[in-house]
Amino acid sequence: MTPPAPLLLPLADAEATARLGTTLAPLLQAGDVLLLEGPIGAGKTHFARALIQERLRGAGLLPEDVPSPSFTLVQVYEAAGTEIWHADLFRLGNVAEADELGLSDAFETAICLIEWPERLGEEAPADALRLAFAYDDEARIVTLSASAPRWQPLLADLCRAFAASHARGAP
Ligand SMILES: Nc1ncnc2c1ncn2[C@@H]1O[C@H](COP(=O)(O)OP(=O)(O)OP(=O)(O)O)[C@@H](O)[C@H]1O
Ligand SMILES: [Mg+2]
Repeated sequence: MTPPAPLLLPLADAEATARLGTTLAPLLQAGDVLLLEGPIGAGKTHFARALIQERLRGAGLLPEDVPSPSFTLVQVYEAAGTEIWHADLFRLGNVAEADELGLSDAFETAICLIEWPERLGEEAPADALRLAFAYDDEARIVTLSASAPRWQPLLADLCRAFAASHARGAP
């Protein structure tokens, strides 16, 4: 199997970024790692917050605040027996610190949403799904890519579900 082709999705507004998170939430399972790339203010936390809240909702749990982990580095949630790790590594001192936080184990056992994954260098899991959030004056866009073929069916499902959710949300 070949790696999936990159998927480019326009994000017209903040609601679209959140909708991508809610659409992706039920498609993930323990051991899935999402590397959230992009500059300051690109929408990484906004996306992760919507995803986590949808996953909690899907497990029948009450909505929870999902603060940016920019100071705590990691916030952990649990939904229906699966942990969700939300990390912001911008302030990570060095790669060894990521290990001390327990990230290497979490990559195997939890759903991990990692902002500023560049800080992990070579330690970033090779079979992760990358979401590169980008913006200029004109538009915001996200590019989803992976080198592991196992993401192919998920990206196809996501593409369909995201288009359908847009159609439902359209005036
Ligand atoms: N598609 C979009 N169009 C317009 N605004 C958006 C879009 N997506 C998110 N935003 C807004 O961008 C702002 C910054 O988003 P967010 O905090 O998620 O950025 P971030 O990538 O996590 O930044 P940092 O690197 O500082 O953690 C938020 O106010 C959010 O509502
Ligand atoms: Mg953030």
